[in-house]
Amino acid sequence: MRIVHTVRELREQVAAWRSAGERVGLVPTMGNLHRGHLDLAERMRAAADRVVVSIFVNPLQFGEGEDFEHYPRTLAADSALLEPIGVDIVFAPNVSEVYPDGLNVQTRVDVPALGGILCGASRPGHFAGVATVVTKLFNMVQPDLAIFGKKDYQQLQVIKRMVRDLNLPVEIMAAETVREADGLAMSSRNGYLSPVERQKAALLAKALNEAATRLEAGEHDFRAIEAWVSQCLDQGGFKTDYVSLRRQGDLAEPQPGDKELILLAAARLGPARLIDNKEVRLI
Ligand code: PAJ
Repeated sequence: MRIVHTVRELREQVAAWRSAGERVGLVPTMGNLHRGHLDLAERMRAAADRVVVSIFVNPLQFGEGEDFEHYPRTLAADSALLEPIGVDIVFAPNVSEVYPDGLNVQTRVDVPALGGILCGASRPGHFAGVATVVTKLFNMVQPDLAIFGKKDYQQLQVIKRMVRDLNLPVEIMAAETVREADGLAMSSRNGYLSPVERQKAALLAKALNEAATRLEAGEHDFRAIEAWVSQCLDQGGFKTDYVSLRRQGDLAEPQPGDKELILLAAARLGPARLIDNKEVRLI
C-alpha cells in the first residue's frame, strides 16, 4: 500500500493501472476511520481491481464556526487500518494540493434543490463544498466506481444527482450504515461526546426505529410522527435540528401513494451534531 500526497504521483499510478485494463475504485473519506469507513473499503476491495482511499478534510464543506480545525487527523492510524484490507493507495493531499489557488474557488458544483434542504438548510454551502470536492477527487483519481455510505443519505443523493446531471463516468455504489452495539451510527464525530452523552446518543437511532415501525404498522399522520421523534430527542437531552419524512431518492415531501420513504433526523448532543436516518416501506 502506497501513501501518496500529490495529484501527479496519483495520476501516474492510476494511469498505469488503467492502461492495464484494471478497474479502479475510490472510497472518499475525511479520515479518522471507523468500522463504517472500513466496510466501504472492503466492499470496494471486492468490487474493483484497484482501490484508492482518499483522506482529506475538505475546508470547503465546513461552515464558519464548524469543526474544521478540530476535526481529528489520524493518518498513521488510518493507514494501519487500511493496509490489511488490501487498499492499493491512500491518497492524502494537503489543502494547497487540492486548492492551489486558495479557497476562493471560482468553479463550483452545486446541486441546489437537493443540497439546500434538511442538512443544507442549517449548513449553507455544505453540499456545494461536498459536490465540488467529490468532482475534483473524481477528476484526480478517474475512478470507474466510487462508494458512499447511506449514513449520509442526503450526501449520497446529492452525489448521485450530480453524476447524472454532469454525465460523470463513475458508477456510484451505496453501503448500509454500520452501527455500534446500541444502534448508534458510527461517526468520527461520536468522539466529541462525553461518556454520559455517548450513552444518551443511542436514543437517536432508537426513536427513528420506533417511528419507522409505527409508520410501517399503518400510522399515517406523518407530521405527528415527526413531532413525536423530535419531542423524544429533546426530552432525551438533544437539541433537534430537524426530523423529516421524505421520499427516498429525491427527498421530496411524500405524496399520497408513495411507499418508499426515508425518515431523516439531525440533532445536537453536547458538542456534536449527529445525523441518522431510517428507510421506511409503507404497505
Ligand atoms: P466522512 O464523513 O469521512 O465519510 C466518508 C464516507 O463514509 C461517506 O460515504 C460516509 O457516508 C461513510 N460513512 C460514515 N459513517 C458511516 C457508517 N456509520 N456506516 C457506513 N458508512 C459511513 O462524508 C464525507 O467524509 C465527506 O463529505 C466526503 C464525501 C469525503 C467529501 O469530503
